Amino acid sequence: MNPERIEVRVGDTASVVWVGRGALEDPRRFLESPSGRWLLVSSRNARAVAARLREALAADLLLDLEIEDSEERKTLDTVRSIVDRALEAGVRRDDAFVAVGGGVVTDLVGFAAAIVLRGIAWNAVPTTVAAMADAAIGGKTGVDHALGKNLLGAFHLPRSILVDPSASATLPARDLASGLVEAFKGAWIADEDLSTQAESRLDRLLSRDEDALTDLLAGAVRVKAAIVSSDPFDRGSRRLLNFGHTLGHAFEAAGGYGHLRHGEAVAWGIAAALSISAERAGLSASDSARIRSVLARLGPFPEPVRARETLEPLLVRDKKATSRGLAGVLLEALGRARVEESIPVEEWLAAAESVTIG
Ligand SMILES: NC(=O)c1ccc[n+]([C@@H]2O[C@H](COP(=O)([O-])OP(=O)(O)OC[C@H]3O[C@@H](n4cnc5c(N)ncnc54)[C@H](O)[C@@H]3O)[C@@H](O)[C@H]2O)c1
Ligand SMILES: [Zn+2]
Repeated sequence: MNPERIEVRVGDTASVVWVGRGALEDPRRFLESPSGRWLLVSSRNARAVAARLREALAADLLLDLEIEDSEERKTLDTVRSIVDRALEAGVRRDDAFVAVGGGVVTDLVGFAAAIVLRGIAWNAVPTTVAAMADAAIGGKTGVDHALGKNLLGAFHLPRSILVDPSASATLPARDLASGLVEAFKGAWIADEDLSTQAESRLDRLLSRDEDALTDLLAGAVRVKAAIVSSDPFDRGSRRLLNFGHTLGHAFEAAGGYGHLRHGEAVAWGIAAALSISAERAGLSASDSARIRSVLARLGPFPEPVRARETLEPLLVRDKKATSRGLAGVLLEALGRARVEESIPVEEWLAAAESVTIG
């Protein structure tokens, strides 16, 4: 079975995303290294997939490194350890990294690839549904800083990204559901047909049916590819990908690390954004109900912290806040989104306080 080829074009560079079953059967066909030598960096939880890569790249493996991939380790120190090991191994300008893991690993390795020898090629083999649909696509790489998430980084497109749903076979159910929220998000902002198809296959998606996953992931990748290609440096339409993320990030931070998965916080953020969309963007009750029913079936998710005194400082501190409020992504209809610039903080807080899913 041949995977589908989707291109993410940014100026005169491009990534090729290979989506579908079979991408991992013969990974070497799809990965790119100008020298033919590889630096494999993976995480323990992705070891089954890493083993397949190790076998395929065998003799030309310059480095085979396992790193810890908790969000707390998404730091410059970890990038430094990757870069140290690559330099010690004798990395050259025409070698290429292969990152195997979730978004933490692809963010770290992409950033290491961006800076070692002023930038070498890299490839991503995402092993979480969230990274397949979102994190590994689009060339944003980077790490967290004590003062905030993702404050350091670089744009550095991977040459090739292998999205093979079989790589998520060992993913815990909670991470699967959380990743599916991000995949559905792509459909909701830009592709009603994709949403209709995926809604009708929710049971298959939740039981990891690989054909159903392939179709949803390919659709989500196509949406992200089109948006990134039209706004490579995050100045305009790329903000649409933040649907559900304004409150989502606040819910995530409010609960403290580990309370809500990112996708779960985004699910609550989407539910709240639906109410604001109904008020301000004319989203119909029926479109809203379709989305809520998907979220309900992906859940139940742990309750978010709704308290104003906790959420308000987080919203006001948001990088995108101005005195008139906070930008948000609203749906005009299922499959059609727009950015609204200044939604008063009060409106966000009211939506957070009353948010329900389902
Ligand atoms: N660069 C971007 O454009 C972008 C976009 C969205 C998110 N991100 C970043 O991505 C990160 C989140 O990524 P994520 O949602 O993939 O989570 P993650 O990388 O934290 O992985 C979640 C958990 O799943 C485990 N795991 C990974 N693959 C597995 C597998 N096949 N089987 C079993 N367990 C597995 C991991 O070890 C981890 O415990 C965040 O740091 C976020 O900032 C980046
Ligand atoms: Zn997200």
